[in-house]
Amino acid sequence: MRSFRRGLLFTLGLLALTAATVTAAEPESAAERGWRWLTTKPYLPADFTETVFQQLWTVWPESLREQARTASAAERRRMSFERYGLVERPGGDGTGPALGYVADGQGGWVMNCLACHTGTVEGRMIPGAPNSLYALETLTDDVRAVKTAMKIPLGHMELGGSRMPLGTTRGTTNSVMFGVALGALRDRDLNVTLNVRRPKFVHHDMDAPAFWNTGRKKYLYCDGFVEKTPRPLLQFVMVVQNSGSTMRGWEPEFADILAWIESLTPPRYQGNIDVPLAATGKRIFEHHCARCHGTYGENGKYPEKVIPLADLGTDPVRLSSLPREYRESMKFGWYGENGKRDYQLDPDGYVAPPLNGIWASAPYFHNGSVPTLWHLLHPRQRPVVWRRSLNGYDHARMGLEVVELEAVPSGAKTKDKRREYFDTREPGKSAAGHQFPDDLSEDEKTAVLEYLKTL
Ligand code: HEC
Ligand code: HEC
Repeated sequence: MRSFRRGLLFTLGLLALTAATVTAAEPESAAERGWRWLTTKPYLPADFTETVFQQLWTVWPESLREQARTASAAERRRMSFERYGLVERPGGDGTGPALGYVADGQGGWVMNCLACHTGTVEGRMIPGAPNSLYALETLTDDVRAVKTAMKIPLGHMELGGSRMPLGTTRGTTNSVMFGVALGALRDRDLNVTLNVRRPKFVHHDMDAPAFWNTGRKKYLYCDGFVEKTPRPLLQFVMVVQNSGSTMRGWEPEFADILAWIESLTPPRYQGNIDVPLAATGKRIFEHHCARCHGTYGENGKYPEKVIPLADLGTDPVRLSSLPREYRESMKFGWYGENGKRDYQLDPDGYVAPPLNGIWASAPYFHNGSVPTLWHLLHPRQRPVVWRRSLNGYDHARMGLEVVELEAVPSGAKTKDKRREYFDTREPGKSAAGHQFPDDLSEDEKTAVLEYLKTL
């Protein structure tokens, strides 16, 4: 009996040891390291402190403020997360920074890539899904108001936001112009320079692309002008506090971040799918859409085509907002490894993106102007103005649950209220173009919509 016990203990001990060795010996993969950098490492100065965050409710509109005044701390946090489109960290305890921010160790929240690049669908967090609820400008305005009241010096976001729009509609941001503004303060090797150029700004809001498709592409961004390498990913951390050598030294970490992005797989649609109808839709898709968007499933091929704007007809502002000189300075500078990398200096349209997981990345087009796949398939019935519900998903039309309007209601007087409405008549926000679905009959569109659920 004793020897049996000793034997058992020995075996258990051995098992524990093996388990320990396995864990210790298994090195962290590049993608795992990338996730760790994203969720723990501050690459920017802090945007605000936890204390400021907890005071934000004090500058809210009257009715919300009243509600927050009597709410518990946890309830106030939930209200703040809703107002700004923030996402709780998976496995978090409901305190500290949201997923799109990291702690700086001194009570500060530091924005990271996930603020725009990881959001929720029907309230469920999906890694790499565009954060279509993020209200960056409203958050920044509220932070500015609280810091001013508390006599705290303003940070780079509040100061930047006083000079240029950060995002005029919930869910989209002026991020391309952030890059232009920060890039103007550096030479081609990324060293901060006093020889400030005065760039031409064409402010416009963009919808972040779904990260799970980046692995299928050779080029980045909606006009595909940049060959995919880790370096261009650093554009977002160009604040002057980061010296050129600091930024260049981060290249290996950004290679890990790119590895994480490329490790993502598209989320599967969990709702009902009419399988025979989807099979019909597949044939129609392959006939009408695949020449641009590629094929799916085993041996799927993605052509990564840039479609000239003249044939496409979607909003032109993003394309013309980046002048040739800007693209050249990227290509022939550090980002493009002094001209070694393939950059397009004069792209004439937008890339037809891969449609994997397309059900989860509403709203559609590079500017996020079309709320559902049904509207994408019915060009003439796209809403002029729409307002989404917070977490609703429209399973009939596949995409955001929206109210459609002819104009922004006159009652929406304050900026934070107006940002809840997507107005397709504003510059850079047109929902026109991509008339290709007009070649399909209504029945064919229904079948294609069903097929899109399966990608
Ligand atoms: C303020 C919002 C925002 C933040 C923060 C942000 N991005 Fe983006 N990102 C965007 C938008 C919008 C685009 C689309 C730009 C375009 O197509 O011109 C984009 C595009 C990209 C792409 C191209 C993907 C593709 O498939 O073409 C990559 C890669 C990327 N971002 C990585 C990052 C990384 C890494 C960070 C953090 C260092 C980051 N982004 C921070 C908004 C953001
Ligand atoms: C001639 C090429 C071409 C054809 C044909 C075409 N598309 Fe597109 N499609 C594009 C381009 C380019 C975009 C990006 C437009 C933009 O963002 O401004 C796009 C965007 C989309 C999007 C939105 C993607 C996103 O991530 O926002 C969907 C969905 C889509 N197309 C579905 C279809 C379907 C379904 C068909 C067939 C009925 C089709 N397309 C036919 C080129 C094409």
